Amino acid sequence: MNSSTGPMAGKTVLVTGGTSGIGKATAAGLAALGARVAITGRDVARTQAAAADIAAATGNPSVDPFAVDMSSQAAVRRLAQEILDVYPRLDVLVNNVGGFWATRRLTADGLEHTFAVNHLAGFLLTNLLIDRLKAGAPARIVTVSSAAHSSGTIDFDDLQGEQGYSAQRAYSQSKLANIMFTYELARRLRGTGVSATTLHPGVVRTGFAAEDPGPMWKVALPLIRPFLKTPQQGAATSIHLASSPAVEGITGQYFANSKPKTSSEHSHDETAAARLWQISADLVGLTVGGGNQTDGGGR
Ligand SMILES: NC(=O)c1ccc[n+]([C@@H]2O[C@H](COP(=O)([O-])OP(=O)(O)OC[C@H]3O[C@@H](n4cnc5c(N)ncnc54)[C@H](OP(=O)(O)O)[C@@H]3O)[C@@H](O)[C@H]2O)c1
Repeated sequence: MNSSTGPMAGKTVLVTGGTSGIGKATAAGLAALGARVAITGRDVARTQAAAADIAAATGNPSVDPFAVDMSSQAAVRRLAQEILDVYPRLDVLVNNVGGFWATRRLTADGLEHTFAVNHLAGFLLTNLLIDRLKAGAPARIVTVSSAAHSSGTIDFDDLQGEQGYSAQRAYSQSKLANIMFTYELARRLRGTGVSATTLHPGVVRTGFAAEDPGPMWKVALPLIRPFLKTPQQGAATSIHLASSPAVEGITGQYFANSKPKTSSEHSHDETAAARLWQISADLVGLTVGGGNQTDGGGR
């Protein structure tokens, strides 16, 4: 299959965090369907190697690497500009980048790292690319969340764990933020032809938590690894939401195993979602009327 044949031929897809795990398998699955695929990763050589692997495995040469550390807002802005410069159309954005880090640390922007990478990076990138997605509608935005969202709450009094950091709490909060962002985005995009969906990929054998697992995951990961889904199995729902005609036009919905699933009660709190959106916009320097912030389409 190459980019001129297959059900995704002529479509351009950006998958963030495409150098390993679920993101790499998602990019490969979409490349195999004929899409032109852009992937991101932090390291130039690793990102180029992943793109070359995907091209070789799928026979689709149209796989483009973008090296960018998405914990930095300046870097996310540079990435968005490069994408706008290189691709005249963008059909699907898969906000996949994310992870679990045991230790609290700050990004170059002075923000808590888990919240910045797992939520704010996708929030900013989506807003910066939204006009290109709208211009080519129908288009899709798929954001990878987790079942871990169900134990999460948005701690508006201490969003960045300044008063006390628990890695699990930070992760669950960020994954709840992914879902609330998706539901709010879907409301804001009503009538534009751009859909926003989110998902739990399953528990998947990847590089997840490997950088800074902390004592609990250090012990648990090797024990549970043999029982986990493969990256290809973990990518199935992302690929389904990014490409299947069966979900065309479906928006504001959480999925697992490629089927709609009910997300936590907190995730449906529209007041909290609007508040989170505003705080996120402030934290990434997007203000209504001052940037590309997604506010159109009749909410
Ligand atoms: N694995 C699971 O069981 C599981 C379960 C539920 C949800 N998820 C979600 O699935 C998504 C993918 O996770 P995964 O399990 O596939 O993890 P992974 O194998 O560690 O992959 C993470 C990807 O994100 C990239 N990345 C990490 N930090 C980055 C940064 N600051 N800037 C740019 N890229 C960065 C990595 O690239 P480089 O290292 O090359 O920079 C890599 O491509 C995450 O959102 C995660 O929360 C995973």
